[in-house]
Amino acid sequence: MSKKTAFWIFLIGTLSSAALFLWATYDTQRQIAALSHVDKLSDEVVAGKRAFQKHNCNDCHTILGFGGYYAPDLTRVVQRVGEDGIRFRVQHPERAFANSWRKMPQQNLSDGEISDLIAFFTWVGNVNNNDWPPQDSRKRLSRGEQMMVASVGVSPGAAVFQTKGCMNCHSLHGTGGTFGPALDKIGASLSAEEIRKYVTDPKAVNPKAMMPPQKDNLTGRELEEVARFLSAQK
Ligand code: HEC
Ligand code: HEC
Repeated sequence: MSKKTAFWIFLIGTLSSAALFLWATYDTQRQIAALSHVDKLSDEVVAGKRAFQKHNCNDCHTILGFGGYYAPDLTRVVQRVGEDGIRFRVQHPERAFANSWRKMPQQNLSDGEISDLIAFFTWVGNVNNNDWPPQDSRKRLSRGEQMMVASVGVSPGAAVFQTKGCMNCHSLHGTGGTFGPALDKIGASLSAEEIRKYVTDPKAVNPKAMMPPQKDNLTGRELEEVARFLSAQK
């Protein structure tokens, strides 16, 4: 290759990359207000972000991919565990994560701070980020969860129960969360159909329900599998 050809390759390559970069930057800037629904940035959301910084949640958690890698990413935590689920975990981490291999500290947040944090997580959770970063619905299984796999077998319903977050709040055979009731004997009181209804939209069955609706968390097939699996727990 002559010096001249190399020069042209360099020049055209650099200019076209620069043009692409500038266009992509412009395109993102153009869409950013809509993607991040800036109009919903209330004072509460801002206060929640301040509380998030003040209590160094970022030391352990990532949010939108930034932060520490010790604890789960919190970008879509509202969709994953619900508002009451967040409140319970922040107020009683020792109970919420009693069976986990990693621990979250008790930080004595005020009720107001927790409400602001929930507003912040709700805002962040609705940013259209093209599903980035990937959320750990298939997070690494804890020792207790691995024992669960062994004790409940590998039926598709058991797998849904383990990988779709039910265990964050419910236990089976003594393993799992304590925010919701243990489900060891649930099949004795509810049929598969009733379980399916409850899990889809708890408030439709029990107006005071604290369990977040799972209809967007599970496919129809997963819902059927987990309902059949739980109805067999007697
Ligand atoms: C010292 C590290 C540490 C700090 C600081 C910390 N957390 Fe956590 N947090 C954890 C760990 C570890 C878990 C996951 C436990 C598990 O599931 O095994 C967790 C889990 C959570 C969960 C549940 C996530 C899910 O998907 O189930 C929420 C919500 C949460 N933390 C909120 C907060 C908030 C809000 C703060 C700041 C006020 C905070 N955390 C500070 C370590 C921490
Ligand atoms: C954020 C915590 C949380 C998550 C996640 C969760 N649940 Fe629940 N669940 C609860 C709570 C709390 C109750 C007790 C009633 C209420 O307040 O809704 C409950 C109640 C239930 C009941 C009715 C129990 C009864 O005795 O009537 C079933 C069945 C159930 N959950 C199944 C599931 C399944 C299956 C999943 C996963 C797809 C799941 N839950 C995920 C918190 C949760």
